[in-house]
Amino acid sequence: MAKVRTQFRCSSCGATAPKWVGQCPGCAEWSTLVEEVDVPAASTPAVLRPGRRPQPIAEVDPSEFTARPTGIDELDRVLGGGLVPGSVTLLGGEPGIGKSTLLLQVAAEVAAAGGKVLYVSGEESPQQIRLRAERLGALHPELYLAAETVLPQVVGAIDEVVPDLVIVDSIQTLVHPDLSSAPGSVAQVRDCSNRLVQEAKARGCAVVLVGHVTKDGGLAGPRVLEHAVDTVLSFEGDRHHALRFLRVVKHRFGSTQELGLFQMEERGLTSVPDPSGLFLADRRSGIPGSIVVPIIEGNRPLLVELQVLTALSSLPSPRRSATGLDGGRLSVLLAVLEKRVGIPTCHADVYALVVGGVRANEPGADLALGLATVSSIVGIPLPNDLVACGEVGLGGELRQVGHTSRRLSEAARLGFKRAIVPFSAPEPPDGIEAIRVGTLADAVARLDIAEPGQAPRTGLPQHGSR
Ligand code: TYD
Ligand code: MG
Repeated sequence: MAKVRTQFRCSSCGATAPKWVGQCPGCAEWSTLVEEVDVPAASTPAVLRPGRRPQPIAEVDPSEFTARPTGIDELDRVLGGGLVPGSVTLLGGEPGIGKSTLLLQVAAEVAAAGGKVLYVSGEESPQQIRLRAERLGALHPELYLAAETVLPQVVGAIDEVVPDLVIVDSIQTLVHPDLSSAPGSVAQVRDCSNRLVQEAKARGCAVVLVGHVTKDGGLAGPRVLEHAVDTVLSFEGDRHHALRFLRVVKHRFGSTQELGLFQMEERGLTSVPDPSGLFLADRRSGIPGSIVVPIIEGNRPLLVELQVLTALSSLPSPRRSATGLDGGRLSVLLAVLEKRVGIPTCHADVYALVVGGVRANEPGADLALGLATVSSIVGIPLPNDLVACGEVGLGGELRQVGHTSRRLSEAARLGFKRAIVPFSAPEPPDGIEAIRVGTLADAVARLDIAEPGQAPRTGLPQHGSR
């Protein structure tokens, strides 16, 4: 058999070179050359095979794209029903977040429902996976394991098992032996994923690829991986918290608005049906700087606790820290408090966080953040039965945010009695009284936590004096 030749192509201008060089000979860009198999022009047929004839859109049979439930409720919710046969899904996430755990549980559920599953692992031995499967209660006769990293062997295993679902953990460990590039390199990841996409389409089996993410949150390997697959899911969460979020980054078969919530426990991941209840379970009343804000994550309203702690700073430029919140928004709000509400913030260290490892990076949390900051500065707790929902403009004026009704319904469901909202907000649901205000200064005045227009009586140095 003739030896396969490879060449290096610039991912920017397309120029080729026989060897890897740091700078592209064509466009002079750095580090853009990627290895690929050199296919001689003669081996590609000059005339393409006749394709399928165009057909009226209404005559296309959609049934081949029917999603099959995986049996893991939160995953099925995110996927809009389940995995589509012949589709390729990429599950990205940081190491240790729970990707292998989730997929082993998916594999077990699919096998238990009568599907055949092949779990290919290049990261762990079959013994390790078996031990984990025992813990997860995932031992099933229709679940096959292959500890493989070489692409043709993986395809061979697919031939042998003829599975309905193939899980590849992870795409970065696979190697195409024709390429000299290292596993996980752009060339390897691109070629291996393209081949698996072809296999999935040709056989009609669903394929799930695990992809590691880099420190800055992007998927390691080329972005082309995201283009090649049908669905990109991102598994996120704070490793110190049990909560995990499953988000949809791209989905060819449905909405990208869904959010799945899991909790990592002793025996694997469990679905979280009532996240708001979970986030608020350990909340304590009477603490200055604490407030509950209804946010929208994906399509779901969630109630989260926001906490702010302020302290007189000993530094020329005070410390500002935002966890789960946007640092830029916090700075803007502090400036608005200073200029429009008359609350001095420029000498305060300010620490703001969302409890439970949740993110509330949305304008709807502005009002709550502003009120919590004032509450901390003056040392007066906000009412315990209150939620706040609204965007704050640079003039200190309040604006309504999307889905206010749904946010307030969630607050009512969890027993909150009052909501401080902009004038334009819709009628609140039964059980909740709306406190309508026009500006952040009005909001501060209505809640009687400080006189707007003047510095709070207690001033900054006397925290917690009340
Ligand atoms: P893992 O699925 O190996 O993460 P990934 O594949 O994304 O790298 O999960 C790793 C963590 O999950 C590990 O630190 C232990 C924890 N874990 C549990 O808490 N309970 C369990 O039942 C399992 C299997 C893992
Ligand atoms: Mg893993």
